Amino acid sequence: MKVFLVVTLYLATCISFTRSKSLRSSKTDGNLEGLEDTIVPLGDEPADYRAKRSVMRKPTALSEIMGPLSRRHARDLTEFQRSDAVYLRMRGLLSILKMLIGKEPQIEIFHYVNWDKTINIDNLFYTRPTSIFQVRRIIRAARHLGMRVRATGAGHSRSPLYVDEGNVMMDVRDLERHDGPRMQINPKNSVRNYKTLTAMTGVYEYDLNEFMVRNDVTMLSQPLNVNETMGGMVAAATHGSTWSAPTYSGYVRELRLMDSSGRLRKFTIERHPELMKAIICNLGMFGIMYDITIQVYPTLIAKVHNQFVPLGSLIYNNTALRDTVTGNFLTEISWFPFNSVTDAEAEDYKRDGTIPAAWNAKRDSIWLRSINIISEAELGGRPLEPTHFLPTNGSLSGGKEKGLLRGRGAVSVAKRVPIVSYHHLVNAFPVILPPRWGTETSAAFMLNIDNQFIRAAEALQFIVEEAENQIKANGSTPLNALLPRFFENSDCDLCPGNHDITQADDSGRTLVIDFLAPPAQYGFYPTARKFVDHFRNQKVRPHWGKRHDNIPGIIDHIKLVYGDNLDHFQKMRKLADVDPCDMFMNSYLLEIFGRSGTWCA
Ligand SMILES: Cc1cc2nc3c(=O)[nH]c(=O)nc-3n(C[C@H](O)[C@H](O)[C@H](O)COP(=O)(O)OP(=O)(O)OC[C@H]3O[C@@H](n4cnc5c(N)ncnc54)[C@H](O)[C@@H]3O)c2cc1C
Ligand SMILES: *[C@@H]1O[C@H](CO)[C@@H](O)[C@H](O)[C@H]1NC(C)=O
Ligand SMILES: *[C@@H]1O[C@H](CO)[C@@H](O)[C@H](O)[C@H]1NC(C)=O
Ligand SMILES: *[C@@H]1O[C@H](CO)[C@@H](O)[C@H](O)[C@H]1NC(C)=O
Ligand SMILES: *[C@@H]1O[C@H](CO)[C@@H](O)[C@H](O)[C@H]1NC(C)=O
Repeated sequence: MKVFLVVTLYLATCISFTRSKSLRSSKTDGNLEGLEDTIVPLGDEPADYRAKRSVMRKPTALSEIMGPLSRRHARDLTEFQRSDAVYLRMRGLLSILKMLIGKEPQIEIFHYVNWDKTINIDNLFYTRPTSIFQVRRIIRAARHLGMRVRATGAGHSRSPLYVDEGNVMMDVRDLERHDGPRMQINPKNSVRNYKTLTAMTGVYEYDLNEFMVRNDVTMLSQPLNVNETMGGMVAAATHGSTWSAPTYSGYVRELRLMDSSGRLRKFTIERHPELMKAIICNLGMFGIMYDITIQVYPTLIAKVHNQFVPLGSLIYNNTALRDTVTGNFLTEISWFPFNSVTDAEAEDYKRDGTIPAAWNAKRDSIWLRSINIISEAELGGRPLEPTHFLPTNGSLSGGKEKGLLRGRGAVSVAKRVPIVSYHHLVNAFPVILPPRWGTETSAAFMLNIDNQFIRAAEALQFIVEEAENQIKANGSTPLNALLPRFFENSDCDLCPGNHDITQADDSGRTLVIDFLAPPAQYGFYPTARKFVDHFRNQKVRPHWGKRHDNIPGIIDHIKLVYGDNLDHFQKMRKLADVDPCDMFMNSYLLEIFGRSGTWCA
């Protein structure tokens, strides 16, 4: 059974926008009192772009084209009939869009499936602009038609952060900067006594890492995957597992974006500290991010140590857990269930699925990878190695093993990684190659870490026992890998790790309970649901980019946990006047954040 996200057709909303459509010029837009300094003059488009444009003609209203096909009006159609009918209407709209946008960039109707196949959008308009002027034309055309536009990077998110059916998906990966290179290092200056790095939002992490190494600078934390974009990682607060370093959002010092009026805007941490609390993790709701400037640090040398320890001694001893996690620069803990079966036990399992009576989770090994910073002297002239990808051979967990034996397979793959190695820090972060078949997804939920790690250990034990119980009772596992991680909170409205969501004896750090399995694996979603239910009163919250929207009641729970932070975010969005008509929203985000105001209806 495939689990698909239910993509709500959001045309009903578009219709209400269309009634008031007008192609206002950017000069008369909005009220920017006190924020005039955020406008970056972009000027007219260079002539060679303009020449390719065709004459604007008044389009047919979107409502006339698509109105009858909103869910409300389409109850007596099957999903296939409805989708086909939407497609036919979109064909008509496509020619109008092309007319408004001109020859470049191309815009086409696509069926969109994200990387792990958990998001499936029947039809959307896909476009991949190469210049900020093209972005502006798309935004203006969409605005004229009352359509929504959302940016995407690598499409690695597994939650409804994508544009709704029938609207415009803007892939930013080919965007080039009109006033600078794709990446640059900015020296210290009188405002910032540290170096910064500016990169286009479409830059991949692996390019960013190579650039940092070449320029003797570093970040302090990064995710498990190098194939994500700068924009995607900032927009969704992508985290690593460095005890005293933030998510990608926490490095942001300056950011330029194009708002829904087609104005290029620039916000900085020094001039707009309150706005930046909202902007640094915005889930795409502030507009099309163009380039991002992050703080970077002088290059660091890292010593990586891979160990295998019994799960019981680490997860069932909060003191050991605390000492390990707080005592290393970075700690990465991986559990692949059922990994301690002996050869004889494996034979029994292969024969008839027997779960050995002697097996329990405490006996399994934890792959414990720690990273510490060392000096040149400690390095002693040893060569620095490139990134070690975990050779999982096409699977996040288990190589080519089948069923529960994948756990053992995964550990044996991990044991092929050298015990000790030395790298530039950005090349030392643990990296998994995406599975070759792209069928594993991940759910991740965050909790506050207390200074004694009592709550952290409890959360880990809960998820371990869920898996253990299902293995014993049913011979199957709800998760193939458990990858808990630890990071430092930031001053950031929507970051799941932020200074405003606190618990007793708070360490100022966040625990991520991240677990992986193919989307349809038995028990995966029920386990996510049980976890959230159990830790509801500890303000558990989801990773925005991972599977969570199918958990009953999750939207109300998110509203409760973020509380005033959601209000502050919306207030800042309004103040910045980046999106008065909710062009950058989708139906899922509207359920959480509501509409901006009434003046567009
Ligand atoms: C194999 C794998 C491993 C992962 N490991 C980790 C991990 O270790 N830690 C972690 O925290 N997460 C992890 N993730 C999740 C991932 O970090 C996030 O989903 C991230 O957002 C993906 O980046 P992307 O480039 O694919 O962005 P997308 O998924 O394409 O987009 C994500 C969000 O960013 C917005 N966005 C992107 N670009 C722009 C732009 N230019 N302007 C405005 N909005 C924009 C989109 O609108 C969307 O809301 C992992 C995902 C996978 C598939
Ligand atoms: C991810 O990045 C690595 C390193 O550059 C590359 O070898 C690999 O092909 C990429 N994988 C995908 C799925 O894009
Ligand atoms: C728990 O871990 C601590 C620190 O490593 C250790 O001193 C202690 O003996 C452990 N407790 C048990 C019950 O094993
Ligand atoms: C990796 O996968 C390929 C294709 O499934 C297989 O032929 C090969 O033997 C695998 N290698 C290892 C080391 O498991
Ligand atoms: C495990 O649960 C699934 C789903 O309920 C069921 O189909 C299967 O028969 C169960 N297997 C065992 C061994 O209990």
